[in-house]
Amino acid sequence: MDSIIVTGGTPLSGDIPIAGAKNACLALMPATLLSEEPLTLTNAPRLSDIATMSALLRSLGSEVSLLAGGKVIAMSSHQLTSTRADYEIVRKMRASNLVLGPLLAREHQATVSLPGGCAIGARPMDIHVSALEAMGAEIELKDGYLHAVARGGLKGARFAMKFPSVGATENALMAATLARGTTVMSNVAREPEIVDLAKCLRAMGARIEGEGTDTITIEGVDRLHGATHEVVADRIELGTYMLAPVIAGGEVECLGGRLDLVEAFAEKLHDAGVEIEQTNRGVKVRRANGRVHAVDVATAPYPGFPTDLQAQMMAMLCTAEGTSHLEETIFENRFMHAPELTRMGAKIEVHGGTASVTGVERLKGAPVMATDLRASVSLILAGLAAEGETRVNRVYHLDRGYEELEAKLGGAGAKIERIRD
Ligand code: EPU
Repeated sequence: MDSIIVTGGTPLSGDIPIAGAKNACLALMPATLLSEEPLTLTNAPRLSDIATMSALLRSLGSEVSLLAGGKVIAMSSHQLTSTRADYEIVRKMRASNLVLGPLLAREHQATVSLPGGCAIGARPMDIHVSALEAMGAEIELKDGYLHAVARGGLKGARFAMKFPSVGATENALMAATLARGTTVMSNVAREPEIVDLAKCLRAMGARIEGEGTDTITIEGVDRLHGATHEVVADRIELGTYMLAPVIAGGEVECLGGRLDLVEAFAEKLHDAGVEIEQTNRGVKVRRANGRVHAVDVATAPYPGFPTDLQAQMMAMLCTAEGTSHLEETIFENRFMHAPELTRMGAKIEVHGGTASVTGVERLKGAPVMATDLRASVSLILAGLAAEGETRVNRVYHLDRGYEELEAKLGGAGAKIERIRD
């Protein structure tokens, strides 16, 4: 397995381009299943998770071509040949469950493996299931699979989610576009990825109002047509690279980044003493002289502080002046990076869903590894500030969500290289 070696201590300077959002793209791709006509996505990120979703869609009968080196995804689902998402694919990537809503809407049936637990938490599917049941689906769990049927097709419904789940909102939104009648769903997720999905579905002819608020209204239509849609910029990749010059020192401009999508995060950086500016090219970040200050952070659904930036924020706070308190409210097991950061000299105490981080002046390089994507990148960031060499193992996690990580950080002056096995 490949590993990445980071040699810390070099301030960064230069531009880092921000790709299209992984989590937007993973929800947009299954939208192809809703129409017989082609759907093309531009500004797609080049990631192994996208390859996994392509394989899943092909197994259902879609044609998927990655063009322009993977930046354009051309899909066509003229005729579907299967309605089953197999365990072998779903266990690799939870987002595979996003074919459930579209398959039910178009084919009136779907068999989708339950993903099982993952490194950051149990992650059940009950909210997806209740939303689709409210629209008339009958769903049964058998042999580890959800067997769903919608006799006579899905029907518009009025329901509230018990928690604003991102995936459940995406599944229900796609399903409702082809349901008979009007669906009003409340307490839904407001993430920018939902807004991007609604924009794409609207370009395909769907009738949707209210995305980005906690209530979305969808008026079902008989069919959706083809469209071309540009994937929104990745706010989590942006936040990750905004932290790089804060941790290593220096100044970086994240090209194409949108500050309006990371407001809660940017506010915390500002409180810590970081200078941030939206320019016409992207987002410029500079660490003023000296160490940043401790800040307290609690993750929350959008527009709150994103759980997907919690690990990276912790890496930054490891060298801040003072003690910070981090609270993780979305996933029950998302501090797996803490013991690894501790191996690099960080002072972190974890008690259930909260962590106290007391900043030290300098971290020290060490061999480390992580169990999920965001935890892995937090170790890379920490390595930028550490004395000596940090070797991050199991980098396949990084390849799932960060396109050309070494080239992007290396281009801004970081000493980083991949060791291929
Ligand atoms: N939940 C339930 N029941 C459900 C669905 C969710 O209890 O039916 C719980 C989950 O267990 C979790 C919480 O609700 O504790 C939030 O889960 P959500 O459904 O909102 O997350 P998701 O759709 O599975 C997406 C992102 C994650 C990101 C979360 C939260 C994709 C492909 N994944 O997951 O991204 O952390 O939203 O913002 O969009 C990542 O990119 O590293 C990543 C993990």
